[in-house]
Amino acid sequence: MSTPAIEPRLRVGLIGAGWVTQHHLAGWQAIADRAEVVAIADPNLDQAHRRAEAFNITHVFASAEAMFDRMTLDAVDIAAPRETHAQLVRLAASRGVAVMCQKPLAPTYDEAVQVVADVAGQTRLMVHENWRFRQYYRDLGTWLAEGRIGRVLQAEMTLFTSGLVPDDKGLLPALERQPFIGTLDRALVMEILIHHIDTLRYLLGDLSLQYARLGHASEAMRGEDRAAICFETAQGAPVLLMANLRVHGRAAAQSDRLTLIGERGTIELEGMTLRCLGEQAATLQYDAPTTYLGSYAAAIAHFVDGLDRGTPFETNPEDNLQTLSLVEAIYARGGSATEQS
Ligand SMILES: NC(=O)c1ccc[n+]([C@@H]2O[C@H](COP(=O)([O-])OP(=O)(O)OC[C@H]3O[C@@H](n4cnc5c(N)ncnc54)[C@H](O)[C@@H]3O)[C@@H](O)[C@H]2O)c1
Repeated sequence: MSTPAIEPRLRVGLIGAGWVTQHHLAGWQAIADRAEVVAIADPNLDQAHRRAEAFNITHVFASAEAMFDRMTLDAVDIAAPRETHAQLVRLAASRGVAVMCQKPLAPTYDEAVQVVADVAGQTRLMVHENWRFRQYYRDLGTWLAEGRIGRVLQAEMTLFTSGLVPDDKGLLPALERQPFIGTLDRALVMEILIHHIDTLRYLLGDLSLQYARLGHASEAMRGEDRAAICFETAQGAPVLLMANLRVHGRAAAQSDRLTLIGERGTIELEGMTLRCLGEQAATLQYDAPTTYLGSYAAAIAHFVDGLDRGTPFETNPEDNLQTLSLVEAIYARGGSATEQS
């Protein structure tokens, strides 16, 4: 009887132990037979120890440097704040360790271009962009590839929430979950809409920016909290992206809304329902927590697949720079938040 080959599991170090890492670690746990997070590094040692205990991680360090000095790692998962990403990517590359780095790769497009050039050929790098891995976008992408609605003629995506309208306790729900968003110069587009833009690129291909207008209303926000953006696809279809986090009467958080109007049908995503209307009608329903957590797990599994098989990452640096270039163009054209208040 032949014994199946047992490959060694990937040894992963997690850099950052903040809010988002609960979802990263759940994703790593989902592929525990292929990879193990063996260490976690965060200058906030209390937070690092909390995560380590919850997810059974044996080594905790106060810095990524200390982690690299003491551990033998195959890969790192960077989930620290954006301003640390480039330096951490360079550090990991200098140690020959594969890197998955949370979005945004850097605070500006130019800094992202520089770090990508600096580490080219030194290591493999994937940007952790998980929205496009949400199951409804994968299914929607399949429908588009099957030609169910024909050529897309118009598209509209919206994010309207009351996250920056005080709730009955006087709190701002959007900042309760992630307080750092209030401190960012580049807030709504660079932190949140970057996901929508990346997903629209995944579904519709290359986009060019036609119009952008940013605005600022909440005193709790340093950066912009509303945006009106229009792209055009390579085939000339307009794509509207509208967002505002201070919309009275809306829910504090909103699930995804996207309408694609095609030659032969319409696709509508409204929360957890994806519909195709027209000749090839279909409806799919999703579960919100499963879809949300599943997107982190799918992005992480994609990273490990790419390393195991030597296949390209969907969100490789070249691809991600295109998303960042649109983000940069929106800031250049949309005006700074304070100019637009
Ligand atoms: N859907 C998503 O994919 C998603 C959601 C939320 C956040 N994010 C991204 O994840 C990253 C982290 O966001 P968060 O919400 O967890 O932030 P957070 O503020 O909750 O946590 C950041 C953590 O990083 C630590 N840190 C700071 N400097 C560090 C360094 N040099 N080395 C190691 N750790 C360091 C901090 O001490 C803190 O514990 C950001 O890039 C953010 O844009 C992505």
